Amino acid sequence: MDDTAFDPAALPEAANEDRTALVGAGTGGIARAAELLRAGRVVAFPTETVYGLGADATDDRAVAAIFEAKGRPRFNPLIVHVAETAAAEAFAVPDDRAHRLAETLWPGPLTLVLPRRADAPVSLLVSAGLDTVAIRVPAHPVAQALLRAVGRPVAAPSANRSGEVSPTTAQHVLESLGGRIPLILAGGKAEVGLESTVVDLTGPRPLLLRPGAVTRETLADLLGEPVDAAAGDPERPTAPGQLTSHYAPRARVRLAARDAAPDEALLTFGPDLRKGPRVENLSEAGDLVEAAANLFAALRRLDRPDVAAIAVVPIPDEDLGAAINDRLRRAAAPRPEQPGTT
Ligand code: TXA
Ligand code: MG
Repeated sequence: MDDTAFDPAALPEAANEDRTALVGAGTGGIARAAELLRAGRVVAFPTETVYGLGADATDDRAVAAIFEAKGRPRFNPLIVHVAETAAAEAFAVPDDRAHRLAETLWPGPLTLVLPRRADAPVSLLVSAGLDTVAIRVPAHPVAQALLRAVGRPVAAPSANRSGEVSPTTAQHVLESLGGRIPLILAGGKAEVGLESTVVDLTGPRPLLLRPGAVTRETLADLLGEPVDAAAGDPERPTAPGQLTSHYAPRARVRLAARDAAPDEALLTFGPDLRKGPRVENLSEAGDLVEAAANLFAALRRLDRPDVAAIAVVPIPDEDLGAAINDRLRRAAAPRPEQPGTT
């Protein structure tokens, strides 16, 4: 592939699935994706948590195009991705706590919400009107290479249409956003499989806004103080990701199930002999890391038109199980008329 001949302006506006290029990182894909991002277009790319739908965070129109592509009902604040911790200081004000977490956990599946610098060269739309900004340094080598090639901060929510579960493969992104974006950079299956842990460091006490692979215990150990879980006041969410219904498949989700009814599919965990087209085991070995990595793909596979509900067996609430159960509770929550999904 001759990247020098690639003209992003020549790409048609998203029209149908055929117009979305699915490109591997090794075949000039990173250069193409970087060029599109620098031209103000929206591109999907892999991270170790889930696939992201990226746009130049310094470009208002590009950031707005993310919301358009997702069909998001409202402007939720977005995570700004940078290649290294030092780059974050241009638009956020990190304190000692932020430095401590960043030193150990970046690059990785952690997002820090920090006070926004008044002169931050980042679209106001990224902060959705708040005087804070969420930042993450992803570890995935393709995300790292892309961010370095772009040379600008990249705003990115999960690369799914609003209301769908987050994508953990390039194929999921194609199914969800094919025809709506010019390019999907493929980089294998997302290793973690759950969105990043989000911690708010703008107040006197650190607040866990969204559980993820970095656990509350790990954060508390590093900070030397307890980390409160954000009280999920559905009327006034600090992180719109806290809105109760979220990560929702079309089928209903029934938790704490033992068996599946005839019109239900079964999502199970651990040694379980039940098999079949309507059964998914998150981890036969009972490994919560493997279960997290499989969660969203398994929900998608079970979310078939002939399935009225997905029955989910109890998942241990320790370690990554806390994050898995958080996502499952959201998937099971009653749906508001206008879901605040990200
Ligand atoms: O793993 C991830 O975090 C993925 C990958 C692509 O990085 N991104 C992701 O983005 O999950 P999104 O937009 O689906 O979720 C971002 C979460 C939301 O719950 C949002 O409300 C919260 O972060 N958030 C972003 N900026 C915030 C801010 N300034 N204050 C409070 N919460 C914020
Ligand atoms: Mg999302």
